[in-house]
Amino acid sequence: MIILGIESSCDETAAAVVKDKKEVLSSIIASQIDTHKEFGGVVPEIASRIHVENISWVVARAIEESGVDWKDIDAVAITQGPGLIGCLHVGVTAAKTVAELFEKPLIPVNHLAGHIYANEMVTDMKFPLLALLVSGGNSELVYMKDAYSFEVLGETQDDAIGEAYDKVARVLNLGYPGGPKIDKLARQGQAIYALPKPKTQGKYDFSFSGLKSGVLQFVKRMERRNEEWIMEDLAASFQETALNEIFDKVRLALNDHPEIVHFVVGGGVSANSRLREMVSSLAEEYPNVEFTVPPMRCCTDNAAMIAVAGEFAAEQGRKADGWLSADASLEM
Ligand code: KG4
Repeated sequence: MIILGIESSCDETAAAVVKDKKEVLSSIIASQIDTHKEFGGVVPEIASRIHVENISWVVARAIEESGVDWKDIDAVAITQGPGLIGCLHVGVTAAKTVAELFEKPLIPVNHLAGHIYANEMVTDMKFPLLALLVSGGNSELVYMKDAYSFEVLGETQDDAIGEAYDKVARVLNLGYPGGPKIDKLARQGQAIYALPKPKTQGKYDFSFSGLKSGVLQFVKRMERRNEEWIMEDLAASFQETALNEIFDKVRLALNDHPEIVHFVVGGGVSANSRLREMVSSLAEEYPNVEFTVPPMRCCTDNAAMIAVAGEFAAEQGRKADGWLSADASLEM
């Protein structure tokens, strides 16, 4: 199948054409990061307006660069949610319009399913599978018994991991997005400061807001006492505590589900160099499990992953009509 994917859940307007789940014929991403940088985070109203400005040319260019014609497109896959509601509506409206105009089936896709299926572009996903989703908006552990069947084992009770990175970076005046900056600083420091270890209710759940407040309190305390502290060491301490929280839960899930044969990662935080190291160590601990961390172009928000997930969704008979609406808190 040749699928046109459209994605607009946060601050990237994206469209892509993918053939048979693997061959990315085109992938256009219009990022708004420079606009939101000056506000220290994504401003939903501004993001929606920029999506409106970009969506038409992004879709047109994806078709043009793919080398295929509208008549060759088998279906249109669209991110229905979760995400920022105004942003999602722009993509959903565009997808419904082209699907109606060119008489193509419309396939609704969950954004998180897209992040998981980004892995299919670089490997053949095997089941049962455990997926770790780490992004600016989500932190989840998802169990997949089979293709396109999702069981959320655990999720964040408060901030997403990327959000915690961004908020800590704001406390340290590092700018937005904070993740890459903390990653770089942490490489030059040592995790010597004790920060609060997250407490969660669910066995596989995450929590990052106490840790984020712990960093803020640490800085205030040191300033109050006029004591010196090292930014690189604080970045390393935060990162190590946050990632240990994640990998403790991943280990629990792998131990409780020995039938799992494949572990995959998705979302922007998977760019993190320490996280990638930790996945490599984990792979040594579980030699019977295949481990995949896709390259960065697949990890951050893009529409190729929506097209890939869309083909799997289509195989399950999932289809929408002109009444499809965006859903900001769509569950998997
Ligand atoms: O998946 P993504 O592109 O989009 C959203 O969910 O919005 O993820 C963006 C998030 C941001 O919070 C950013 O700070 C974080 O990914 N990020 C990182 C790194 N690169 C991006 N976090 C930690 N280390 C990195 N190297």
